[in-house]
Amino acid sequence: MWGGRFTAKPAELMQAINVSIGFDRRLAAQDLAGSRAHAAMLRKAGVITSQDEAAIQGGLDTIEGEIAAGTFPFREEFEDIHMNVEARLRELIGPAAGRLHTARSRNDQVALDFRMWVRDACDRTIGQLKALQAALVAQAEAHADTLMPGFTHLQPAQPVTFGHHLMAYVEMFGRDAGRFADARRRMNESPLGAAALAGSPFPIDREMTAKALGFDRPTANSLDSVSDRDFALESLAAATLCGVHLSRLAEEIVIWTTPQFGFIRLSDAFTTGSSIMPQKKNPDAAELVRAKVGRLMGSFTQLSIVMKGLPLAYSKDMQEDKVPTFEAFDALELSLLAMAGMVADLEPVAPRMAQAAGAGFSTATDLADWLVRTLDLPFRDAHHVTGAAVKKAEELGCDLSELPLSELQALSQGIGPDVYEVLTPRASAASRKSYGGTAPDQVRAQIKRWKDILA
Ligand code: ARG
Repeated sequence: MWGGRFTAKPAELMQAINVSIGFDRRLAAQDLAGSRAHAAMLRKAGVITSQDEAAIQGGLDTIEGEIAAGTFPFREEFEDIHMNVEARLRELIGPAAGRLHTARSRNDQVALDFRMWVRDACDRTIGQLKALQAALVAQAEAHADTLMPGFTHLQPAQPVTFGHHLMAYVEMFGRDAGRFADARRRMNESPLGAAALAGSPFPIDREMTAKALGFDRPTANSLDSVSDRDFALESLAAATLCGVHLSRLAEEIVIWTTPQFGFIRLSDAFTTGSSIMPQKKNPDAAELVRAKVGRLMGSFTQLSIVMKGLPLAYSKDMQEDKVPTFEAFDALELSLLAMAGMVADLEPVAPRMAQAAGAGFSTATDLADWLVRTLDLPFRDAHHVTGAAVKKAEELGCDLSELPLSELQALSQGIGPDVYEVLTPRASAASRKSYGGTAPDQVRAQIKRWKDILA
């Protein structure tokens, strides 16, 4: 493609380090779309003739067909996707192919292709996040009343409902989807027409190509257009945060499926057995989702290191932007799909959760609150009395709700038998009616809100 200035072929090692077709072939669809829009614009601007444009579009159709059929010759000697397409176009339509690259450079071409790929990936991810949220909402709705212990420090803290716990993740994944949407909005400007770095002397219409390719507008600085990859980094940052959330849910699934917890059962579809221990049913999918966040974070780190300190404008370093980005979105997609599958499939063991919800004196705060409300004790004093009640119950080997009234009255005279009404896990959860609290009606209100958003 640049034979004019060169007399010898590149060293084999040069080709080995330079070649990117092995991975940037994933940009083929975007590359064809960009070339189509560019050719139509060149014709409209009077830069190429209608015949040449028709030949180019026809050739691009053939190439699209070859790619779909798996017969397109991806060739290493043509380095990357852009030159592979152009070389094939020349074979198909002859010299007119050479006119397609007027007023364009591989620098704005790759910036365009990659931006469109990341934009598509963000859209797909938002769809996958919504599907995961829908699976969580469906389980939450089925279990808005199912009690479970709420934890702090992984110690039983206060009873909550399984529905409430799942809805916490719906909020997290909602913010994740919002971050991908924000990134998409910011990246939705077309770099095509920035050419090599300085713009073009041809009468190109960048608004036209931007519009044809679904962008809001063309980018406003040609140097910036070809030299930044912050759109990819921003998406990888969003992917990393999403991975952090996924890994927390994955970890909970791992914990909940242990016989020690026994809170949920996973279906055979998302577990594996052991080749030596016949009793095993391992939550491998959850473990792998938990681990994939490493790839996501790694990708963000990798690309930020590639980009840091690069002088403007394009440098070949930037060819290394694709592999981490592709890998990250592949890992994220698998994780989101597997997580949605696990969530839809999992079966809570309600009696076990309910029993655990009452363990560990989980209604102690309810006793303290009752003392404040009914006997007008300052909260600190109520906390002290309740602490003593817990100590007593521990001594007697019983639960708070099983403490004889006389024992409670020995700690605070005014305590009457109605105190027992607040000491069950169900009453505890039902009492937390504050906005966003775990009371089933509050949880149902949030489920309804999300169903409307996700509809
Ligand atoms: N394969 C290259 C990349 O991914 C395309 C751009 C090449 N531009 C250049 N001036 N060598 O970045």
